Amino acid sequence: MNAAVGRQTIEVALGERSYPILIGPGVADDPALIATHLSARRAALVTSEIVAALYLAPVSAALARAGIETVPIVLPDGERHKNWETLNRVFDQLIEARCDRQTPVIALGGGVIGDLAGFAAATWQRGVPFVQIPTTLLAQVDSSVGGKTAINHPQGKNMIGAFHQPRLVLADTAMLSTLPERELSAGLAEVIKYGLIRDAAFLDWLEANLPRLLERNPDALAYAVRRSCEHKAEVVAADEREAGVRETLNLGHTFGHAIETGVGYGTWLHGEAIAAGTVMAAEMSARLGWLGEADVARVRRLFAQARLPVDAPAMAQTQWLELMGHDKKVRDGRIRLVLLRALGSAVVTGDYPADALKATLADCATTAGDPASAPVRHG
Ligand code: NAD
Ligand code: GLY
Repeated sequence: MNAAVGRQTIEVALGERSYPILIGPGVADDPALIATHLSARRAALVTSEIVAALYLAPVSAALARAGIETVPIVLPDGERHKNWETLNRVFDQLIEARCDRQTPVIALGGGVIGDLAGFAAATWQRGVPFVQIPTTLLAQVDSSVGGKTAINHPQGKNMIGAFHQPRLVLADTAMLSTLPERELSAGLAEVIKYGLIRDAAFLDWLEANLPRLLERNPDALAYAVRRSCEHKAEVVAADEREAGVRETLNLGHTFGHAIETGVGYGTWLHGEAIAAGTVMAAEMSARLGWLGEADVARVRRLFAQARLPVDAPAMAQTQWLELMGHDKKVRDGRIRLVLLRALGSAVVTGDYPADALKATLADCATTAGDPASAPVRHG
């Protein structure tokens, strides 16, 4: 069989910093493809303990066959390690291996590794080439594209970071076969996001195809990754530094980041927090008269069908407001929210009655689960 069958290329158009996203089974395992897009003799391959056990050997072997020697940097796994201490471990190993300005940093893993390795690449020797090999659905559809890199502050998600675009993204959809179910669902939250903010037809497709996606049907997954990357590439090309339309990609994130920080990093997965946060954004949009009850019910049903939580954890209103007040979209102390004018159409606004937000937070307290435990999943 031709190895290139089923492969797609999407361009992120950013002038001289444009780059391709290559999508399909085996794209990270193909030395000819790697050699075409990456010219280096050595590369630092940053990954986590869990991903290393699965993919470090095959990816290093493919790089070797492309003439690239690997410096492996294996980090502890998970959101709670997306911090200064882990970042310093990367710098320690880059210096020990004498990686220079020509040595690319390759992220092999989910969004945590991608964000952290990307920030290392942005800052090491004032910036070195960066490549993303995303291995989770969430990273393939969202975090590996667009150049946002960051680590967390104890009081706020992704507070310390930089924009640093990758030179290449290799989204190997075959790698999704080993992803735990909970992580697959978490990735679907960001896929559903694209439908809600800008593509009502994709939302219809998702409603019809969620069962196939949950069964990991390769065609359905490939289509979801491709359509999501097309949206992400278009938005990033229009607004790389998030001065406008890119903010809409943060649907559910002001509530969601507050959940992740409030319950402790890693208790709720990012995609889970975004699912419950997006339901809150939909409820707030209904309070403003933009969505109807049936729309909100449809949003809840979609996330539940994807086996995601739809009810936020219990937190005091003061804690919600304190955490949301650290959001990067805050302007002059005003919490700005991504809301839905209709399903398929998002707006960003700080112009809403304070009582509407308070009522949304109060309402969620009535359905909330225990903040210290993992979320209740549906489906
Ligand atoms: P993650 O990186 O923690 O990965 C989830 C888990 O899956 C980890 O335990 C990982 O080791 C494991 N894993 C990864 N690939 C696997 C595979 N193929 N098989 C088996 N296990 C595998 O989580 P995530 O959901 O990928 O990313 C979440 C992070 O992404 C958050 O920190 C979030 O803030 C960030 N994010 C960033 C952007 C951006 O634009 N930069 C966008 C969205 C999210
Ligand atoms: N995930 C939001 C963004 O990349 O802008």
